Amino acid sequence: MKQPIVARIAATAAGVLALVAFVPAASAGGVNQSDVAKLTAYVQDNGLSCMGCHGIDTKLVGPAWTDVAKKYQGDPKAPSELAKRIADGGSGVWGQVPMPSGLATPAQAKELAGMILALDPCAKEKR
Ligand code: HEC
Repeated sequence: MKQPIVARIAATAAGVLALVAFVPAASAGGVNQSDVAKLTAYVQDNGLSCMGCHGIDTKLVGPAWTDVAKKYQGDPKAPSELAKRIADGGSGVWGQVPMPSGLATPAQAKELAGMILALDPCAKEKR
């Protein structure tokens, strides 16, 4: 009876490994990569600190930007409200940790809000 059990454990381990290898590949494929590239290039080119607290589709200190895009999908006021919150900071929407103000100029914040809202809001579901 020992052999089959060992074989089963080995098969399970192989399955877990396959899953672990699959998840990062799938998450990278969920979001439109050219939208992501545009957004991260803008952040880098302008020397902004956003990525220290935000991941494209990972929650860090602040919410994942794909979650932000999903939350405000179809909200006509979202572009201006988000632009204001990116420039002025905010708190209480995603948790108790506040986002500081002054991280981007109002013009940068407007650009960023548009690019964040343009991220595929269904990226998480497509995994
Ligand atoms: C010091 C960490 C930190 C940095 C740096 C930071 N954020 Fe945030 N951000 C947060 C936190 C925390 C929240 C959640 C605030 C809340 O719950 O209302 C947030 C929320 C947001 C939201 C959602 C706002 C809402 O009302 O739903 C957007 C969009 C956003 N950040 C964009 C940016 C951009 C763009 C930058 C770079 C200019 C940036 N953040 C830099 C921590 C940060």
